[in-house]
Amino acid sequence: MSEKFKAPRGTFDVLPEDTRVRHRIVEVSSRVLETAGYRRIGLPIFEETALFARGVGESTDIVQKQMFTFEDQGGRSLTLRPEATASVCRAYLEHGMQKLAQPVKLWTDGPFFRHERPQAGRYRQFNQVDAESIGSDSPLVDVELILLANDVIADLGVEGVRLKLGSLGTLATRAAYLDELRDHLRSRESELSEDVRNRLDANPLRAFDADHEGTRAVTADAPSLLDRLDPEDAEHFDAVRGELDRNGVAYEIDPTLVRGLDYYTRTVFEFDCERLGAQSGIGGGGRYDGLLEQLGGPPTPACGWALGVDRIALALAQQAGAEPDVERRGVFVVAEGDDRKRALALVTELRRAGIRADLDLAGRALKGQMKQADRFGARHAAILDADRKATLRDMTSGEERELDPATLVETLSSP
Ligand code: HAM
Repeated sequence: MSEKFKAPRGTFDVLPEDTRVRHRIVEVSSRVLETAGYRRIGLPIFEETALFARGVGESTDIVQKQMFTFEDQGGRSLTLRPEATASVCRAYLEHGMQKLAQPVKLWTDGPFFRHERPQAGRYRQFNQVDAESIGSDSPLVDVELILLANDVIADLGVEGVRLKLGSLGTLATRAAYLDELRDHLRSRESELSEDVRNRLDANPLRAFDADHEGTRAVTADAPSLLDRLDPEDAEHFDAVRGELDRNGVAYEIDPTLVRGLDYYTRTVFEFDCERLGAQSGIGGGGRYDGLLEQLGGPPTPACGWALGVDRIALALAQQAGAEPDVERRGVFVVAEGDDRKRALALVTELRRAGIRADLDLAGRALKGQMKQADRFGARHAAILDADRKATLRDMTSGEERELDPATLVETLSSP
């Protein structure tokens, strides 16, 4: 018996009927971002492993457990990209974009790869739209990015979305805070989950992410990073909040907002959609003022976000009536016997004129061809007659009229 192949675990096929909504998500993002001066950049799907190890952070789940890493024939260690930010920064430095007027605003989209346990909304290959603004520490950059993500989400009509906002301060404040937090957690170590205990040294912030009851009790009494921010960071955060208020963006302050990536400094944010279950994060991002230096560049402040295309598609699919009915378009040319030979030439002529057109390719009888016209979603059927005339039938009203097939392109081109 022959083996039955399936798409690999955590991956899926996007069937033709599901491509429209995904296309729309990228289209709307493209329009919103390009209107704001973001320029599209294309990036490789794999990079040197060290870029992500250093960029995303050695202690993160992503680097420790989720990377698809392989060795190429030349013995180099490569990794399928788990996210875009490190690659965008690599490209910025590699192409000397620090010489351009700052900030440099870039966006990209495509597939990303993380070896996570698959569940609804969590896949091993998933899609993001990603936007990065590199080279300015102005709080206006953070606010502009949040406004743009907000506009994309609103234009797509995603309902039930909340914006969570926090600040992580600078790397130095955070390091001092992490020591304080570690001491707090250690003082009640026996109450913590094993996972949090094991990662106490590497990443104590993850304790805030835990579902474990004992851990939650300990973090409830933990010191808050927002109370430890340096005056400049606190001022930056105030400015971000003030501008969001001025622009009418609703948000909730989340002092324990931890993101799964190590490079964040100052502002962090996440968009959650309540319709989705456990995997409710439809996008997130923040400022990463230390990353470019970490990757060998000069000190360069930057900020960005990524939206999860698959999760937004899921959220839209759950909203009744979000997808407008597909409008009937174009023409299906129906022909029998010898007339079939004329049909392909006619369809080709129509297509070249930009009119959506199709014909029967499977030898169906007249009735079968009319059904096929319906499946094709044609606005009209053009039925060729033996006497070189054609009947044009409106597929919705059933109204018919006779015409010369030679005038079909002209007739269908006029509104
Ligand atoms: P992230 O929060 O890891 O951030 O991912 C952003 C979004 O991608 C998530 O909110 C989620 O919608 C989607 N996503 C992530 N992992 C999966 C998965 N396994 N399956 C389906 N969807 C997923 C970043 O990636 C940062 N690079 C964002 C950023 C840009 N920060 C600064 N600049």
